[in-house]
Amino acid sequence: MLRSVAIVVGTLGLSVAISVVADDKVDGKKVYDTKCAVCHAMGVAGAPKFGDKVAWEPRLKTGNDALVQSVIKGKNAMPPRAGQNASDDEIKAAVAYMADKAK
Ligand code: HEC
Repeated sequence: MLRSVAIVVGTLGLSVAISVVADDKVDGKKVYDTKCAVCHAMGVAGAPKFGDKVAWEPRLKTGNDALVQSVIKGKNAMPPRAGQNASDDEIKAAVAYMADKAK
């Protein structure tokens, strides 16, 4: 009994620690500004423009997870990971930021 309580507490402690680190480190706006704006600010090569609700609407319907996968794998003129040295967490944060501003 005591042992299983310790495991639960230990697991909770770990997940809290991980989410704190992720929040601290990844700022979606910063990632967008440094790694995504180069194409998305102006709509280069057919990229859906930042904040353009009409361009984003059909894409948002697929859900953030599918959009994140498009960026990781690449889609048409957007190379895998957008050609950037971006981690999954950075891509997730940037997609969430872009999606939020296009609603
Ligand atoms: C080299 C230019 C370029 C860069 C840099 C770039 N994108 Fe894109 N992105 C595109 C283009 C072009 C498309 C349109 C792809 C299509 O649907 O044909 C696109 C589409 C997308 C989509 C929609 C995917 C879908 O499934 O419809 C998302 C989300 C996205 N980009 C996120 C990002 C994020 C996040 C970054 C920064 C990490 C980024 N992009 C950087 C060119 C770029």
